[in-house]
Amino acid sequence: MPLPRWKTEKKFTPRRSDRFAFGIWCVMNRGRDPFGEETRPRMDALDAVRGLAKKGCASFEFHDDDLVSPAASLKEREKRVRDLKRVMAESGIAATMATCNLTFHKCFKDGAFTSNDARVRAYALQKTMRLIDLAAQVGAEIIVFWGGREGVEVEASKSPQEALRRYREAINFLSHYVRQNRYEPMRFAIEPKPNEPRGDLFLPTAGHVLGFIPTCDHPDMLGVNPEIEHCRMQGLNACHDVAQCLEAGKLFDIHLGAQKPLRFDQDMRFGAEDLKETFFIVKLLEDAAWPGTRTFDAHPYRTEDEDGVWDFVDGCLRAYLILKEKVARWNADPAIRALREEIACRDPVLEAACAAFSPANAQALLARHFDPDALAAHRLRYEVLDQLTQEVLLGVR
Ligand code: NOJ
Ligand code: MG
Repeated sequence: MPLPRWKTEKKFTPRRSDRFAFGIWCVMNRGRDPFGEETRPRMDALDAVRGLAKKGCASFEFHDDDLVSPAASLKEREKRVRDLKRVMAESGIAATMATCNLTFHKCFKDGAFTSNDARVRAYALQKTMRLIDLAAQVGAEIIVFWGGREGVEVEASKSPQEALRRYREAINFLSHYVRQNRYEPMRFAIEPKPNEPRGDLFLPTAGHVLGFIPTCDHPDMLGVNPEIEHCRMQGLNACHDVAQCLEAGKLFDIHLGAQKPLRFDQDMRFGAEDLKETFFIVKLLEDAAWPGTRTFDAHPYRTEDEDGVWDFVDGCLRAYLILKEKVARWNADPAIRALREEIACRDPVLEAACAAFSPANAQALLARHFDPDALAAHRLRYEVLDQLTQEVLLGVR
């Protein structure tokens, strides 16, 4: 069968300067689901790293257990880290994020930092301190906390206030550990998710995380790692979620993928669903010149074999680059620009008066006569604006 043209063309070829990353667990994913066994053979973490470098990724993200089994001896662990660093040096790829797997082992069946068992909570801290040491060794400056088991099915089993207090204690403990070891600029990013694998998870949305951060000992070190699939699982607007993190200066990392709303965690290839919202997420990151890594956290379809995994990677990267080109096209489109000007209805005097409270500004606004009917007459041509956006996306503009 002839190759698709995009296998050979130069356009939309990822470069290191695009700052793309994948979680290595995405390409190592073997297609198991709750109802079926693995469909793909095992891939070693080092091959995953090599493969991502070959695809043009600037960096990768990993869990401690992706790289080295928790049962490994200290010697085996050190050898693995040495091997990883060699592969990184040979292939010119960096590690940007590391995360502790606090979900897989059955000891975490009722949570890690929020488990009812003090021994499990202590083990979770120990495992995360080791992960933080590992991250420091390979230069990963962001530690993600995804509390996949931090939740309940049985409400009577845990006080949610107590659970949040325990969560906070763990984050505080670990932030002190980073400072004590002088690992700065290492920072933490909490990844919200509403449910799955638990019935209900604590810190389910970006908003919850943003509310939690100021209650911790080192809020400056704490941010959010929103995953657009997790947001869409709740039927919320993922673009607004990311925007709120960005606006708060708390977008430390991002996980990109695709998801039909209000379903189980589908983790599909970036761009596979919700194209318009995905376009606006790319627009948000690119217009803000956000300096972080564009990281994909999704899974190849279970129907793919080991080669299909790399088609999945190509698909995510190409979708981002194509949407980035569409963003430039949208921003430069004269009709769209003119409409946006018309919609904005600028008034420098009123804008200055509203920008900040002062007794004089309050006085000026109170004294001003407004005619609500005249305000209502301002035409907002959103039908045309949205159609033009569609046409940019559909490739006819
Ligand atoms: C797997 C989860 O599916 C994902 O959302 C999370 O980012 C990583 N693990 C990090 O723990
Ligand atoms: Mg994720």
